[in-house]
Amino acid sequence: MEPIRIGVLGLGTVGAGTVNVLRRNAGEIARRAGRGIEVTRAAVRDPGRPRDCDLAGLDLTGDAGAVVDDPSIDVIVELIGGTSAARDLVMRAIAQGKHVVTANKALIALHGNEVFTAARAAGAIIAFEASVAGAIPVIKSLREGLAGNRIRSLAGIINGTSNFILTAMQSGGQPFDEVLAEAQALGYAEADPTFDIEGIDAAHKLTILASIAFGHPLQFDRVHVEGLGAVEPADISYADQLGYRIKQLGLARRTDRGIEMRVHPTMVPKQRLLASVDGVMNAVLIEGDAAGPIVCHGAGAGAEPTASSVVADLVDVVRTLTTDPDQRVPHLAFQPDRITDVPVLAMEEVESAYYLRMLAEDRPGVLAELASILGGLDISIEAVVQREPPRGVSQVHLIMLTHRVRESRMNTAVAGIEASSCIEGPVTRIRVEHFEAD
Ligand code: NAP
Ligand code: HSE
Repeated sequence: MEPIRIGVLGLGTVGAGTVNVLRRNAGEIARRAGRGIEVTRAAVRDPGRPRDCDLAGLDLTGDAGAVVDDPSIDVIVELIGGTSAARDLVMRAIAQGKHVVTANKALIALHGNEVFTAARAAGAIIAFEASVAGAIPVIKSLREGLAGNRIRSLAGIINGTSNFILTAMQSGGQPFDEVLAEAQALGYAEADPTFDIEGIDAAHKLTILASIAFGHPLQFDRVHVEGLGAVEPADISYADQLGYRIKQLGLARRTDRGIEMRVHPTMVPKQRLLASVDGVMNAVLIEGDAAGPIVCHGAGAGAEPTASSVVADLVDVVRTLTTDPDQRVPHLAFQPDRITDVPVLAMEEVESAYYLRMLAEDRPGVLAELASILGGLDISIEAVVQREPPRGVSQVHLIMLTHRVRESRMNTAVAGIEASSCIEGPVTRIRVEHFEAD
């Protein structure tokens, strides 16, 4: 049978990795797909730049639209990123009935509802495994492997760059800017690395996973997002002393009142699997009612780990080319007419335990005043730690761990604590999750 001809848009970290994996493993891939998969054309912004892949036999252009429109190309692989040019090119490919493989989580999280509707109408497949958690087949696991379950919750380290930075902070010493530059040089960071540091990239991925888990439309704007900015080395050290690691988590949970979707730094007990996922590695803990807890773990970013998922999607596309479009695995796991609008909880409605760090006067009565603020709101304290000040300093770091409480009540408590004359500056709060089930 003739090989399938693909056009790759973007030959940066993931694009070059994809060409390399397709060429190196061509024989194995053809045995699995039933046909060869050949990259015949590629588009980049600057065709004159050196590339990290072999360009032999590959027609390289600066005009991505020409690749999309080329009638000899069967499948488009979008590895440009962003939501403007990438969206236009993907919609243009769909309009021609071409199948698309993409690693672009921003595109799927923000425009997926529209893209999938257009793709269904055109009979085109949109495959996006590489958009979440790099090499880990987490979308396939959720959409197919766990299809018999009612999914209760997901908790994931789903941004390699922020985990790389937090791991370096945990080891101590290396300045933030240096670690970020290293993550960029290794190809882990987004084109705009604030997406990684401020939790936006993780929120894109959580949006996708939550829709596949719970069967609701993609709703990026309903995700509560906090970045790494508030986490200081002192918090990492106090968390360590208290038996925790700080991880940037994406959490989605089904509750009686609706779905929680949130991304924020989270304290995780050291004995939980998620606490030991370091560097660029990602992990997603999924809890299904039948399967119980499952942890998927692997490289979350980088050229070949991400290419592994892109190529797996290509193999799936080739295998399904001959199937009736109505019998394909649905984009968001649930049949399109069975996607339901489940309410998403406002962050004030979410319940969590908390770590609070504050700068307090070192004098009698301070603890009693803070305990009375928390007690008055029925917030139960699990532990209090006070770090002695150096000689001559009148303030101490006071750390409190609380039991679970609704966010709105904790907001009132934090406002009360910050207004107290015995506290200086803002209170740092980090949510604590125990994950009894991994
Ligand atoms: P990258 O290294 O910045 O590569 C982007 C590529 O797109 C470059 O080759 C660039 O060309 C090309 N490009 C940009 N605008 C273009 C246009 N208008 N027409 C044609 N080509 C254009 O990005 P990346 O890290 O590979 O990421 C690509 C996608 O994969 C993004 O959606 C990203 O979020 C996602 N992703 C990345 C990783 C990772 O580890 N890096 C992991 C998972 C998912 P020039 O080279 O000429 O500038
Ligand atoms: N910038 C992303 C990360 C790439 O660091 O996880 C993988 O999606």
